[in-house]
Amino acid sequence: MQSVSLDIPVDADSAILWHDDRLHLLDQRLLPQQEWFVRCADACETAEAIRAMVVRGAPAIGITAAYGIALAARQRYAQSPTDWRELVEPDLQVLADARPTAVNLFWVISHCRRLMTGIESDPFPSLLAEAQRIHGEDRAMNRRMGAFGAGLIEPGGAVITHCNAGRLATGGYGTALGVIRAAYAQGRIEQVFADETRPWLQGARLTAWELVREGVPVQLLCDGAAAARMAAGGIGWVIVGSDRIAANGDVANKIGTYSLAVAARHHGVRFMVAAPISTIDPNTPTGADIPIETRAAAEVLQCAGRPVAAEGAGAWNPVFDVTPAELVDAIVTERGVIHNPDREKIAAHLIPA
Ligand code: MRU
Repeated sequence: MQSVSLDIPVDADSAILWHDDRLHLLDQRLLPQQEWFVRCADACETAEAIRAMVVRGAPAIGITAAYGIALAARQRYAQSPTDWRELVEPDLQVLADARPTAVNLFWVISHCRRLMTGIESDPFPSLLAEAQRIHGEDRAMNRRMGAFGAGLIEPGGAVITHCNAGRLATGGYGTALGVIRAAYAQGRIEQVFADETRPWLQGARLTAWELVREGVPVQLLCDGAAAARMAAGGIGWVIVGSDRIAANGDVANKIGTYSLAVAARHHGVRFMVAAPISTIDPNTPTGADIPIETRAAAEVLQCAGRPVAAEGAGAWNPVFDVTPAELVDAIVTERGVIHNPDREKIAAHLIPA
C-alpha cells in the first residue's frame, strides 16, 4: 500500500476510485484531519487496506474487494494465461480473511468466482467492468433506500445514528446516512445526533465530517449519552446500517448498536436498519451464527494512538454486536421496507418481484 495525494476533490461521490489503472482508497484512518489516498496494486494490498481500516463499512468493503479481485486477475493472467484461475484462488482467500463480519465481502467473492468460470480470455476487462457495475449499483440502491426510509419519518424530529453508514462506508450516498440525507432534504429531520462510536470514532470523525460538509445539523454524543438523549425527548428514530442480517432478521452492526436498540425500545423511539439486500445472509440462520470480529485490545486501551488506560488493564474489543429482530421496527432495503422483521418476512422479501 502506498499513500498518495491525488488531485481529485474528496467531495467526489465515492471514497473508492479507479484511477491511473489502480485502486485508490481515501484513507479513512486519517479523516477528518488529512485527505490522503492509499493506492493498491494487487489483492494483498487491497486486503491489507480492508484489514487496517483504510476502507471500512460493509458495502465499501465488498466494492473494494471486487476491485481487488480485478487486480488479482490481471496479475495472475500476466503470470499464466492458462492457469490464472488456480493462481487467483489464494488471492481470494487473502481477501476473505481480511474481515469476518461484513457479508458483502463474501457475497462479492462468490459472485466474482462464479463470473470467472465463464471467462475465456483476459479476465481483467470483464472483472474491472463488474467491479464498476457493483460500485455504481450500490450508489443507485442507496438512493432507493433513502427514499423508502425517509418516507417512514414524520416531519419535525431528531434522529440518532451510530458509527458511519454514509458515503464513506458505501459506494456513495450511504445507507443509514442516505435515509438521513433524503429525510433532511424533505424537511423531515431537524437535527441529527451521531454517537462518537468508540474506539475508532467513526461517528465523530466520519459521520460528522460528511454531515457538516452537507450542511446537515449534527451534534455528537458520547456513546453512553444516547439513552439520556432519548429520555430528554424529541427523538423519532434511531437509524443505523448493518454488516450482516441473519435469516431471522437479527442485525449485526457496530458495537453499541444493541444497547441503542434496547434504549430505543424503552423510550418508545423507533429503530430502523438500512442495508442492501446483499447484507441479508440467508445462510446465517440467526444472529448467534454471525461471526463477530474481535480486534486488538490496544484499540480500546489507546485513543488516537496515545495510551489512555491504566497500565496493566486489559480490554475486550468485539467490534460488532447483534440486535435481536424483535427490537427492530423496520429494515429498509432497495426493494422496500420490512416492518417488524421475522424469518417469514425476510424470506418473502428476498424473492424478486
Ligand atoms: O468497523 P466498521 O467501521 O467497518 O463498521 C462499520 C459499521 O458497523 C457500519 O454501520 C456498517 O458496516 C454499515 S455501513 C453502510
